[in-house]
Amino acid sequence: MCGIIGIIGTHDAAPRLVEGLRRLEYRGYDSAGVATLVKGGIERRRAEGKLLNLDAKLREAPLPGVIGIGHTRWATHGGPTENNAHPHATHRVAVVHNGIIENYQELKAELIEHGYVFESATDTEVIAHLVTYYMEKEGLGPVEAAAASFKRFTGAFSLVLLFSGQEDMLIGARHGTPLAVGYGEGEMYFASDAFALAPLTNRICYLEDGDWVELTRSAAVIHDASDAVVERPVKTTALSGALIGKDGYRHYMLKEIYEQPQVIGDTLNAYINPETGRVTLPETSFDIAKATKLTIVACGTAYYAGVVAKYWFETLARLPVEVDIASEFRYREAPMPEGGVALFISQSGETLDTLEALRYCKRQGQKILSIVNVPESTIARESDAVLYTMAGPEIGVASTKAFTTQLTTLACLAVTVGHARGVIPAERMQQIAQALREVPARAADVLAHDERLHELAQEVAEARDVLYLGRGAMYPLALEGALKLKEISYIHAEGYAAGELKHGPIALIDENVPVIVLVPSDGLFEKTVSNVQEVCARSGKVLLIADKKGIDKLSDKVRWSLELPACDPLVAPLLYAIPVQLLAYHVAVLKGTDVDQPRNLAKSVTVE
Ligand code: F6R
Repeated sequence: MCGIIGIIGTHDAAPRLVEGLRRLEYRGYDSAGVATLVKGGIERRRAEGKLLNLDAKLREAPLPGVIGIGHTRWATHGGPTENNAHPHATHRVAVVHNGIIENYQELKAELIEHGYVFESATDTEVIAHLVTYYMEKEGLGPVEAAAASFKRFTGAFSLVLLFSGQEDMLIGARHGTPLAVGYGEGEMYFASDAFALAPLTNRICYLEDGDWVELTRSAAVIHDASDAVVERPVKTTALSGALIGKDGYRHYMLKEIYEQPQVIGDTLNAYINPETGRVTLPETSFDIAKATKLTIVACGTAYYAGVVAKYWFETLARLPVEVDIASEFRYREAPMPEGGVALFISQSGETLDTLEALRYCKRQGQKILSIVNVPESTIARESDAVLYTMAGPEIGVASTKAFTTQLTTLACLAVTVGHARGVIPAERMQQIAQALREVPARAADVLAHDERLHELAQEVAEARDVLYLGRGAMYPLALEGALKLKEISYIHAEGYAAGELKHGPIALIDENVPVIVLVPSDGLFEKTVSNVQEVCARSGKVLLIADKKGIDKLSDKVRWSLELPACDPLVAPLLYAIPVQLLAYHVAVLKGTDVDQPRNLAKSVTVE
């Protein structure tokens, strides 16, 4: 969740550390800090809140030094105060850390007995004191002290250490959360991801779990978990050095919503052959169509994409599907069938719960398939086969274009598997491929309703509670709509399967609760219409999103309606995602929240 960076450079490190942190800020933004060596001694600047507070501090009191480390925090242990901000330091060593040191309380007690005084409420501070202990009390050099300390920590973490008096050395370690090494010209770097290093270098080495590294200006000596020196490949990334801008949009989220016609098209280009019009997936080392069962695991919005996919795989491929949220699945000790395939969906490719669920499934002999947006992410690297979503960097914390490109990829997969299993004939496959190819143009039509959704937002912004309803593949869309609204506008919202309403939630209906109903004309149309009528009969304030058929049938009964283009029901989730995203966005703007960096959240969730 936190972002970490280290530079052994040839000129002032602090401004470049802050630039790197800006690109990592999506990982956490409740406090930030940097440390450099000034005349051999560790000096720090730290600030509570967003990175601009640290920037202002550095402008008031610049920090010289060509070697340094930086951190942007998402608090786990200890509130988001300046005192708890990283780097944490003793007079010998400073540390930036992502993850959790689970045994920090035992270590802290031990270090207090040795006379060390703690200043923060964090788990991280034990790292600085333990390394210092090994140097001061056991007489070890920095490398040996670091190696000895790494063996004492439990939990998932990555970290970078800066030592006083060591102008040409940083030590980094990766243990369950990501860390990459960047190779520059006469300079070397560490960072949580290649994106942070893009302005500095595109030559990146992704460390393996358990690796730790002695970094100097000219080399990286990489050790594995048993301390043996190992070689890891250095890859050239395609990431651009240019700072990803907002292109004139007020927020990244809005820009990313508007990018959807383009990135859905890019994803389709990867999976539909333009000449034959057929869905053509890359070769995999195992045959997904022969799976006895498909287990889909993910978190948050990616999980909702998985729930939509369950409907697709079951109807198009007659493949039994189980779908679960990773934090529940990973501890359930679920029995896994022989010949099963497990599918993991993740924008970042780093979500710890999803990754651990993947590892569990691997141990259970499942073939591992993943759908991720970030190439070289841990989930991608640990999978037997990967399908990439072509969303490009998603900076807004609320997932938008990653979701619709996940759906695009899942639709292509479900259709391919359905055809290979003999469930859908070639003509239906071709028909769906055609419907998918029309999605970018239809998505652009949906975006044209932005102004109407802005008007609706004024009504929703007044509400205390909002309900979203849908049936079939619209049920997960209802869940996603509610998640989008609550995470960025802080309004309480719930998604329900429309047919479930009468089993309890209907008690909430009154004239003050907006009920947003998603009703495409699919096989469940009449059923959902009945549910809408049940809400209307109880003076519910229905806000209808439907195509012409639904509008004709219901628009005179409901408070407000929006007509979306008619489409093959299979692709409807891709189109209905857009109005729920835009509605949440406009409500959040009206409420004056921080749309791109909503409170308490972070983009990449690498703690459990
Ligand atoms: C919500 C959102 C989160 C993520 C979830 C999984 O808008 O973005 O719910 O979908 O944290 O993240 P990834 O896809 O990176 O595994």
